[in-house]
Amino acid sequence: MLSSNQISRLPSFLFIFFITLLSPVGLASVIDHIESTPIPGVVDGSNSGAVSRGNGRSLLQDNNGGNSSLILAADRTHRKDPSDKLNYYTGGWNISNDHYMSSVAFTGAPLFFIAAVWFLGFGVALLLVCLCCCCCGKTRYGYSRSAYALSLAFLALFTVAAIIGSAVLYTGQDKFYGSTRDTMDFVVAQADSTVYKLRNVSSVLAVAKSTGVAQIFLPKDVQNSIDRVDDTINSAANTLETETRNNKRDILRVIDVVSQTLIILAAVMLGLAALGFLLSILGLQFLVYILVILGWILIAATFFLSGVFLVLHNVVGDTCVAMDQWAKHPEAHTALDDIIPCVDPQAARAVLSESKEVTFQMVGVVNRIINNVSNVNMPTGSPAWYNQSGPLVPSLCNPFNSDKTDRKCAAGEVEFSNATEVWKSYVCKVSAKNVCTTVGRLTPDLYGQMNTAVNISGGLYHYGPFLTELLDCTFLRGTFNVIHDDHCPDLSKYSKWVYIGLALASAAVMFSLIFWVVYARERRHRKYTKLVDARSGLGTPSQSK
Ligand SMILES: *[C@@H]1O[C@H](CO)[C@@H](O)[C@H](O)[C@H]1NC(C)=O
Ligand SMILES: *[C@@H]1O[C@H](CO)[C@@H](O)[C@H](O)[C@H]1NC(C)=O
Ligand SMILES: *[C@@H]1O[C@H](CO)[C@@H](O)[C@H](O)[C@H]1NC(C)=O
Ligand SMILES: *[C@@H]1O[C@H](CO)[C@@H](O)[C@H](O)[C@H]1NC(C)=O
Ligand SMILES: *[C@@H]1O[C@H](CO)[C@@H](O)[C@H](O)[C@H]1NC(C)=O
Ligand SMILES: *[C@@H]1O[C@H](CO)[C@@H](O)[C@H](O)[C@H]1NC(C)=O
Ligand SMILES: *[C@@H]1O[C@H](CO)[C@@H](O)[C@H](O)[C@H]1NC(C)=O
Repeated sequence: MLSSNQISRLPSFLFIFFITLLSPVGLASVIDHIESTPIPGVVDGSNSGAVSRGNGRSLLQDNNGGNSSLILAADRTHRKDPSDKLNYYTGGWNISNDHYMSSVAFTGAPLFFIAAVWFLGFGVALLLVCLCCCCCGKTRYGYSRSAYALSLAFLALFTVAAIIGSAVLYTGQDKFYGSTRDTMDFVVAQADSTVYKLRNVSSVLAVAKSTGVAQIFLPKDVQNSIDRVDDTINSAANTLETETRNNKRDILRVIDVVSQTLIILAAVMLGLAALGFLLSILGLQFLVYILVILGWILIAATFFLSGVFLVLHNVVGDTCVAMDQWAKHPEAHTALDDIIPCVDPQAARAVLSESKEVTFQMVGVVNRIINNVSNVNMPTGSPAWYNQSGPLVPSLCNPFNSDKTDRKCAAGEVEFSNATEVWKSYVCKVSAKNVCTTVGRLTPDLYGQMNTAVNISGGLYHYGPFLTELLDCTFLRGTFNVIHDDHCPDLSKYSKWVYIGLALASAAVMFSLIFWVVYARERRHRKYTKLVDARSGLGTPSQSK
């Protein structure tokens, strides 16, 4: 069951990792809706396995004794927690826990630290250089050919490294964007198919409501619960559809912005490295210094951003492992249970067996009508006589035995799928008194009611397992499994590419920026020395060093 506190927490998580958001908020609200209403047949807790909510599973565990809770992704999340005096955090994956958040944010610390040190350190250095330029006057430095060559070599090297870093960043963001899109499309498709099935169930139940056939075939309490279930399934489908649409829109917006930012950043880093190289080769010192100031701020920002992506990479990894463990340990109580409400498997099985019961009973009623009324040649005038005559109507195949085990259809029975079709040829024309005037064993009224009964029982038969899986989260576990197996490796790998690309490009641009300055100075001294040499060659043999 979702508390408002948990819901209010989730939107902030959206920006970190959307899978866990989309599934819990969307599917959880569906499950929440469905859970609060009994499935037809499970009318009261009194006569069947009660549908317990939320903590049903942990209660079950506690009764059995032994392991009741599981720490998700315990190994991965064993990290130092700055909000707890750098002690190790042991609570596992738990987005409602601030200590988890701070410990995972702390994994970006090295890169945040570099960003801060660079920003402050280079700022101070820049200030000192400026002061020296202004106050100390022009001191002449020596020129050495090897220092000049070395600085040029390093400048070229780091420019190439910056180009490589930008390329990694660009490729990484492209792949990361692709894999987030894929993952989102998968989750949205799962949600859409759930909505579609829920609507289908609802349409089946709506038929029962509108034709009033339930009054004939089902006991009163089951009729009432069909009404309620139809309403809740409908509103659950609406909620899920709206949530999916809104989340999809928000997530698309976020990943588009992130992707565009990264593309621009990769281009800017590339441009900066190339331009800086060119300007310092050309010796345009003033422009180089402007570029240095720009680069100084940009590098601090990109180092910080690469720290953010490192944290994101870790959160993605944690969440993937947590989802996998949650999916593999349905019996244990975990932090994900606080977000995702599931009923315990026993209660879900009870729901399934009750929906089987309804199917079984309805088919039974239909068959009794066929065998004891339609197919019997009544003496004219008896209560059940309506001049039925002609070939016998085939009975409906009951998919269950009386003990609710699966049953194979006997020869001559019709299945849910084409009973409507087959029975059509047994309908007779009727007089005003509802008596057959032509050959046939079903009046149009009777045929309509039997069809509706087939629709309801067939729908329940078809969708019972689906509803049960939705209730006990088997469906969600399956979804998580696919995400873990098919989508997590890419998400993890490409988020790594992005942060490595960012760090690489930042570091390379950082060093090339230093060498712009160094090289520009060496170049000036070389020029100056050459000038002096040339002049001394002309006449005054004095200062060569
Ligand atoms: C719970 O305990 C049972 C045995 O008592 C064990 O088989 C199972 O793996 C345990 N589950 C967890 C999640 O620890
Ligand atoms: C319900 O599902 C069946 C098959 O599963 C499909 O033929 C039918 O069109 C669906 N009905 C609605 C209203 O979606
Ligand atoms: C998750 O964190 C919250 C807040 O600290 C805590 O109340 C809850 O018990 C934790 N859940 C688990 C399963 O540890
Ligand atoms: C239908 O007929 C069977 C025997 O042929 C009988 O046992 C059963 O009670 C009858 N049911 C009704 C509702 O008449
Ligand atoms: C009804 O369906 C069954 C199997 O799906 C098939 O064998 C049978 O021929 C069908 N009957 C009609 C009248 O379509
Ligand atoms: C009963 O049905 C037969 C055809 O099977 C028809 O000929 C006859 O007129 C019908 N009787 C009445 C009273 O409608
Ligand atoms: C039974 O359901 C199908 C679709 O699920 C629908 O087309 C048909 O009209 C329904 N039959 C009755 C009698 O309501």
